[in-house]
Amino acid sequence: GDVAVLVPAAGAGVRLGPGAPKALRPLAGEPLLVHAVRRIAAAASVHTIVVAAPAAEVDAVRDLLTPVAPVTVVPGGAERQASVAAALAAVPAGPEIILVHDAARALTPPELVESVAAAVRSGHDAVIPVLPVVDTIKEVGPGEVVLGTVDRSALRAVQTPQGFRRAVLTAAHEAAGDPLTDDAGLVEKQGVPVVCVPGSEHALKVTRPFDLALAEHLLAGGA
Ligand code: C5P
Repeated sequence: GDVAVLVPAAGAGVRLGPGAPKALRPLAGEPLLVHAVRRIAAAASVHTIVVAAPAAEVDAVRDLLTPVAPVTVVPGGAERQASVAAALAAVPAGPEIILVHDAARALTPPELVESVAAAVRSGHDAVIPVLPVVDTIKEVGPGEVVLGTVDRSALRAVQTPQGFRRAVLTAAHEAAGDPLTDDAGLVEKQGVPVVCVPGSEHALKVTRPFDLALAEHLLAGGA
């Protein structure tokens, strides 16, 4: 394998309601992170997996994942971007393709990991999986008053894993300023073209209680 996958899993998960850190919330009896890592490890190109865990949970997360796949676990940071940077710093020499994948996208199929990696391997510096936007999107101002309607056909909803040539991601993190919600955003700021490939509905981000219910249903159906 020529791919290292970084898994930021250090978020609190406030939008899911009170409880354990999000990556450790159970989905059909197993933590979201276990589901995510199992699917990453099933992708044949994956050589290395580095997980950024909540600082207080590093040992627990290592124990949890050891039976699932060989992983390196590091303490994450206060923002997602810091968690990714910590994981990136722990990647050994070797893999030249780096994927960044949210633990919260627990049911992401191994095929999506492979298709993003393949697009980087084919020569793209930065690759993101996307879906079309189904809802009409409005921009709103103060008082929830509509300012305008955005042209939906030009919009995409962005998922992970996001894939990068190693040197490109390293340079983007070294130059990073204010925290962003994804790694492609950092790369865009460097002027590097970011290419879209088709995402997967199964790669939904488990963020709110409804998403957890949907994920349990998908899992029961064999996802
Ligand atoms: O909060 P959000 O849903 O955008 O988090 C996306 C991913 O980033 C989650 O897997 C979460 O655990 C991770 N994260 C992190 N460190 C933080 C905040 C979020 O690893 N400080």
